[in-house]
Amino acid sequence: MADLSTTFTGIRFPNPFLLASAPPTESDSNILRAFDAGWGGVVTKTIGLHPVVNVKGPKTKFLRADNGGARLSMNKRPDTTLVASWNWELISDKTIDWWIPRLEKIKKAFPDRILIASIMAGSGNDKELRNWQALTTACQDVGVDGFELNFSCPHMDRIDMGSNVGKDKVLCSVVTIAVKEVAKVPVWVKPTPATANIVEEAEASFRGGADAVSSSNTFPSLPPIDPNTLDFEMNVEGYVSSGGLGGPAILPLSLAKMAQMTMAFPEKSFSGIGGVSNFDHALCYFLLGCGTVQVCTAAMLDSAIGPNVIKALTSGMSEFMEKRGYASLEDFRGIRRDRVVAHSQIKRPEQIEYHGGYDGAEEHEGYAKPAEQPVTV
Ligand SMILES: Cc1cc2nc3c(=O)[nH]c(=O)nc-3n(C[C@H](O)[C@H](O)[C@H](O)COP(=O)(O)O)c2cc1C
Repeated sequence: MADLSTTFTGIRFPNPFLLASAPPTESDSNILRAFDAGWGGVVTKTIGLHPVVNVKGPKTKFLRADNGGARLSMNKRPDTTLVASWNWELISDKTIDWWIPRLEKIKKAFPDRILIASIMAGSGNDKELRNWQALTTACQDVGVDGFELNFSCPHMDRIDMGSNVGKDKVLCSVVTIAVKEVAKVPVWVKPTPATANIVEEAEASFRGGADAVSSSNTFPSLPPIDPNTLDFEMNVEGYVSSGGLGGPAILPLSLAKMAQMTMAFPEKSFSGIGGVSNFDHALCYFLLGCGTVQVCTAAMLDSAIGPNVIKALTSGMSEFMEKRGYASLEDFRGIRRDRVVAHSQIKRPEQIEYHGGYDGAEEHEGYAKPAEQPVTV
C-alpha cells in the first residue's frame, strides 16, 4: 500500500483529501461519519457571528445533461449525467456557541484527522476585524488544526463579506493580517475565482501572512430558464439571484485559476478545489502543484459525505503511485506546472515563420519578446 500521508502548511495529513466547506461538513455528525469513511481532513461549513437566514425553498440543485442529447436541466429525470451543482446557500446558520463544543468533540474523537475551521466576518472597520479574531481564538482554543478564511462566498447580502472581500486586494491583506495576529495554527485563504487576475488577490493574501490559498469556490452563475414555464429552474416566487456553480463543469475553470497561482508562486502552498470526484481529477491539481485537494459536489451526491468518493480517491492514488514507483505525493507534485506557457510559445507549423503574432520580432524594439510575455490562463 503506497504512503498517502503528506505534510501541508506544517500539518500532517493521513491522506491529502478533504471535504470542502459545504453541506458535507455542516454538522458534527456528518464530520464524524466523514472521518469514519476515511477523509484525511475536513474544512467545516463556514462559521460566522452575524445572523444567517437562508432563502425559502431549496438551497442547492444539480444540473444534468441528457445522455446523448443537448438538454440541460435541473429537473430530475432518467438517463442523465451530472454537469454541475448550483447553490445559493449562505454560510452555517448554526451559531459559534453551537459549533465550539462540537469542534472539541470531533477533534477528541479523531485526533489524527485534520479539522480546519472555515470562518467569515465583515471587514472595513475594527469591530469586524475583531470578529475575525474572536472566531479564530474561539476555534483554536478547542483544538482546530487550522483556518480557512472565506473570501469567496458568491452570494452575500453584505457588501463587506464573502467574495466582496475577495474582490478587494487591500481587504484580502488586512483581514489575513488580523487573523494572523491571533492565530497559532496555519491560516489558509479561499479567494473568489470571480476576479480578472486571481494572482493579485493571492499575492495580497500571502503578503498578509496566509500559509496557503484554497481555490476555487463556486463560480457566480444563474440557473437555466425552463422553456415551458419561462421560470428559472430555481427560484423563490419567480425570483432568482446570482448563485454558485460547482461540480464537473468547473474543473477546467478552476484548474486555470490554480495554474495561474501555482506558476506565480511555485514555493507557496495550494489546496485545489472544483469538480473533483475521482483521482484523475485530483491528479490534475497535484500535477499543477497543489498539496491537498478538497471535494464538495461529488460528496453531496454520495450519501452526503462521500464514502465512495474517498475510497476511489485513496485507491486511485495508491494504484497510481505503485504503478509509477512514486514514494510520496512530493515525487509528482507540480511536475506539469511548467507545461502551461504563453500562447505564443505553442509550436506553429515548421514551414511558416512566426514571431508571436508580430510582423517580425526585430520590428518591435522596446516591447517584450514573445517568450517574455506573461502567461495568462
Ligand atoms: C451547497 C453548497 C454550500 C457551500 N457552502 C460553502 C461555505 O459555507 N463556505 C465555503 O467556503 N464554500 C462553500 N461552498 C463551496 C465549496 O466548498 C466548493 O468550493 C465548491 O463547491 C467547488 O467544489 P466542488 O466542485 O467539489 O463542488 C459551498 C458549495 C455548495 C455546493
